[in-house]
Amino acid sequence: MIVKRKELQSEILKEMNSEGVYEPPRSFSFITPSKLERIPQEEYDQLVEPYREALTRLEVRMNGLNEDYRKKYRDYPIHNIQARIKSRKSIEKKLVSRTLPVTAYTAKDNLTDIAGIRVICYFVEDIFSILALVKTQNDLLILKESDYIHYPKSSGYKSYHMVLGIPVYRIEGMQYYPVEIQFRTLAMDLWASMEHRICYKGETPDEITDAFQNYSTELSEMEQRMKHLLDEIRKNNPQEPMQ
Ligand code: GTP
Ligand code: MG
Repeated sequence: MIVKRKELQSEILKEMNSEGVYEPPRSFSFITPSKLERIPQEEYDQLVEPYREALTRLEVRMNGLNEDYRKKYRDYPIHNIQARIKSRKSIEKKLVSRTLPVTAYTAKDNLTDIAGIRVICYFVEDIFSILALVKTQNDLLILKESDYIHYPKSSGYKSYHMVLGIPVYRIEGMQYYPVEIQFRTLAMDLWASMEHRICYKGETPDEITDAFQNYSTELSEMEQRMKHLLDEIRKNNPQEPMQ
């Protein structure tokens, strides 16, 4: 909403009290400069272009690793892979929340999740197997690592995050672009998707927060029981065919 200066002035005068003091109401957010800040579409397109390439390269690599793993160990650790480029709106929102200027330059310098890939595995063990493989890829830089599996967030959130530097080649030379990679099991992904859907907006009542902390533990336990079933089946039938 764009408000002309004159209109704004008269609004303010209307709201002055008898002592001539004006205090803006809390909901006076339409004059917050951040609301008016935008990255022009053309700059956004230019900004994300190399990130798209980095994302594709990592996605192809992950599929390759999954395939090699399948052949070597007759096991397939990855259920599916999702990849996304952060939307212009989300980039703007994140810069505003970090009180940074809303420009393509600051986005490039400060955000490491413009490109993101989510690797959904069956079981926790699969995450650590695939993670070990990723760490052997010496053309990729590990820029950040957060183990929310052994150290879950207070919300109950579990996942293993990494920011990888992916080489992107241009005529000016090679540059590393960060791609955020989140490893989750299907159960962790169920939890995170539901929690995002249900708790995302505004204040979450304590009962719901508590319930989600419990669901996180319950889902992990359920996952472990299913892993146990799989191990039992494999013990009796080591040649169990793979998908
Ligand atoms: P961000 O500014 O959020 O990127 O913080 P950060 O760089 O410290 O990253 P962090 O590792 O905390 O989390 C980044 C991403 O993990 C988020 O964008 C979500 O996708 C996911 N995430 C983290 N915590 C939660 C949580 O409590 N619930 C859900 N549903 N997702 C979460
Ligand atoms: Mg992040």
